[in-house]
Amino acid sequence: MRICCIGAGYVGGPTMSMIALKCADMRVDVVDINADRIRAWNSDSLPVFEPGLDDVVRQTRGKNLFFSTDVDSAIEGADIVFISVNTPTKTYGYGAGSASDLSFVESCARKIAEVSKSGKIVVEKSTMPVRTADVIKTILASTGKEFHVLSNPEFLAEGTAVSDLENPDRVLIGGDESSPEGRKAIEELASIYARWVPRERIITTNLWSSELSKLTANAFLAQRISSINSISALCEATGADIDQVARAVGADSRIGSSFLRSSIGYGGSCFQKDLLNLVYLCEHFHLPEAAAYWRAVTDMNAYQKRRFARAVLDSLFGNIRGKKLAVFGFAFKENTNDTRESPAIDICGDFLKENANLAFYDPKVSAEQIRSDLGVSAEDPRVEICTSAYEAANGAHAIVLLTHWEEFKTLDYSKIKESMCTPAWIFDGRNCLDHSRLIGLGFLVRGIGKGNLP
Ligand code: UDX
Ligand code: UDX
Repeated sequence: MRICCIGAGYVGGPTMSMIALKCADMRVDVVDINADRIRAWNSDSLPVFEPGLDDVVRQTRGKNLFFSTDVDSAIEGADIVFISVNTPTKTYGYGAGSASDLSFVESCARKIAEVSKSGKIVVEKSTMPVRTADVIKTILASTGKEFHVLSNPEFLAEGTAVSDLENPDRVLIGGDESSPEGRKAIEELASIYARWVPRERIITTNLWSSELSKLTANAFLAQRISSINSISALCEATGADIDQVARAVGADSRIGSSFLRSSIGYGGSCFQKDLLNLVYLCEHFHLPEAAAYWRAVTDMNAYQKRRFARAVLDSLFGNIRGKKLAVFGFAFKENTNDTRESPAIDICGDFLKENANLAFYDPKVSAEQIRSDLGVSAEDPRVEICTSAYEAANGAHAIVLLTHWEEFKTLDYSKIKESMCTPAWIFDGRNCLDHSRLIGLGFLVRGIGKGNLP
């Protein structure tokens, strides 16, 4: 059996590496039109930082896992082709700002139709709007060969991709359950995952349920964050503490405790894009009330980012012009080098509008990435990229913590305090520091939803 995956990104790369690890008898080709990315996958410095991924790639690369730009031959030789290209929010024409741009997916389907000498199983791994499989099916049907289209969305979260892939809550496979050929294709894909995932965790559905489940899962997760963040604003106004509220609420087994960490807002490549897509679909199918409901989740996220940036400004007497702010963390979450939709981008954008001087430190995000996300040149004197948290904080009026990196918890804050201006502020956008200890060291502290701090 040979597998090909088009798209060597944060989803395609780790997912295929895991399949290669668990199925040593299969050849897995991961292809991408981006030659730099493929070069990086073939080097010692992988393009994606994920704990444990280096190890998986080391064990498989060159044995049964191959990264290349030779898209045509990889497709031609494969029995199963995964499509894992990006599906960004459309920026032009009809549906701009909310619909997903499916042009990459369509071009993959056309490429598969063009180079395949025989029929294959084609798997949608990318998150797609409901009924995208129809587009792929129609293009492939025009070849007259027997193709089967399956939907197999990926639920891994960045930063924990390897363990999520190794031990998933569920694997979802959507296909044509009504025909024997459709059921056979579903089983073929299921049997790959069954090498390491217990059968009861492999859920099969029809195509449309699978496509919609992925959008819905991301929408529900994002909604929980917006829900708790809306309450954080109320905590600050009333003297309640959001972490205490989340603990009390999450102890109800019907609600559950995960994904109730109040923050500066969610980021990442999926939540915003998938919510907007869900809104677009509701509008497209003339369901304005449902659209407005999900739109509110994204509105709350934007509010939370704005609110935090404003709180920093207000605390510093409404003036941060020329003041140095140390920004701890830029990635959208811990344990990743990914900055897509990171709340840090909007928040720091607000600081730059006020002409603050920003000194960044993130353990994994490159200087070029930070500058490019902020739209500033390497010569911009307001932006400095540091190699340690201590360097960033030196001479700063405030520390603004934006990513929950473990190393920020164990810094020597007493040493940091001495190197800062007074009063020295810490704005903890992730509530991950020990606030009473910091107050004891003489810091002024503001967290999220901490109405009880002095
Ligand atoms: C993306 C989406 O964000 C996610 O919703 C979807 O489920 C899977 O695709 P990710 O892997 O994080 O996830 O995207 P990205 O890191 O951008 O990788 C996509 C890759 O596809 C890029 O390396 C890009 O060069 C490649 N690509 C894109 C192709 O090889 N061919 C194309 O035609 C278009
Ligand atoms: C998400 C989904 O979890 C995953 O199943 C899907 O496949 C892709 O989208 P990801 O975006 O990689 O994964 O990370 P996730 O852990 O979900 O975090 C998303 C954002 O929400 C981050 O910015 C994170 O900091 C934030 N978050 C998460 C909170 O603010 N509070 C929480 O309690 C949890």
